Amino acid sequence: MIYSRIVGTGSYLPERVMTNQEFAARLDTSDEWIRTRTGIVQRHIAEKTQTSSDLALHACRRALQAADTAAADIDLIIVGTSTPDYVFPSTACLLQAKLGVTGSAAFDLQAVCSGFVYALATADAFLKSGTHKRALVVGAEVFSRILDWNDRGTCVLFGDGAGAVVLVADKKPGVHASVLRADGSHAEILSVAGNVCGGAIVGSPFLRMDGQAVFKFAVRVLDESARETVAAAGMKLDEVDWLIPHQANVRILEATARKLGLPRERLVVTVDHHGNTSAASVPLALDEYVRAGKIRPGQRVLLQGVGGGFTWGSSLITL
Ligand code: ACO
Repeated sequence: MIYSRIVGTGSYLPERVMTNQEFAARLDTSDEWIRTRTGIVQRHIAEKTQTSSDLALHACRRALQAADTAAADIDLIIVGTSTPDYVFPSTACLLQAKLGVTGSAAFDLQAVCSGFVYALATADAFLKSGTHKRALVVGAEVFSRILDWNDRGTCVLFGDGAGAVVLVADKKPGVHASVLRADGSHAEILSVAGNVCGGAIVGSPFLRMDGQAVFKFAVRVLDESARETVAAAGMKLDEVDWLIPHQANVRILEATARKLGLPRERLVVTVDHHGNTSAASVPLALDEYVRAGKIRPGQRVLLQGVGGGFTWGSSLITL
């Protein structure tokens, strides 16, 4: 039996840090409102010239170094993003070129904030099938590009960044189980409902959200998805050492841990200093906790995504 296993993690945050006070200086909001409603204190914002593939490149170099693997040995690149550099080529192809290699399969996966978990489950399936041996699985986003900076209800929530893992085929797991779900009938509660047509944007280029509907939906499906995935792996919730839900809002994270009966100490929280980085949030959080020595080899980690679509899913892994 072939499994897949993470052998290196990496991440990258743009240098520019934006605090809540900067919003309070130009919008009808406050540090106190943002902190108490979301848990967010600061986020990182990319330079105008920095694209998702630029952020991904830094994260991938760090992951490859941690895995002691050469970019040339990667045969599959999957980038979870909904802020691609271009309409096409894919961000994954642009990333491959920036890594200075050719030949691997490379494609983007669009599942918004579930992008990394969807990409990990997809790469796991490729590796288990035996067609590929070493994958770079990436979440990279520049959500600052699709925010209406005058909409206080959305612009305070997001940040930019990238995270990556090197996933290799191995005799031992690795990824124990993944469960992916979607319900397209909820598209309207979180969307960027625009496209490019005839040289112009048709629809809206900005993110729109029904915050309360998203909140309720996220807490419900994160709970269901955790239980379903742990059961699919033949394990129990108390065997999970760390829970890394998509970092959207600290209240969503804490409500999820509470519903699952997991103690606060096992919940990974980075949304306070990253903001919501969409598909990048889970690998960014994973890398931060691995590098800090908090998540250790051999521990079980439940990774969870939820986002526009609506999409959601979880992967239970042993690191
Ligand atoms: N500063 C001050 N006031 C604000 C701000 C702000 N930044 N944003 C909204 N408000 C106001 C609203 O205008 C409203 O004012 P009103 O009563 O005069 O109309 C009031 O605050 C309450 O608004 P609500 O939307 O009811 O506030 P709520 O407590 O629901 O908090 C929030 C809003 C933080 C967006 C919350 O609903 C939430 O976290 N939802 C989850 C959304 C999320 O995490 N989205 C991320 C993308 S989705 C994903 O990643 C899964």
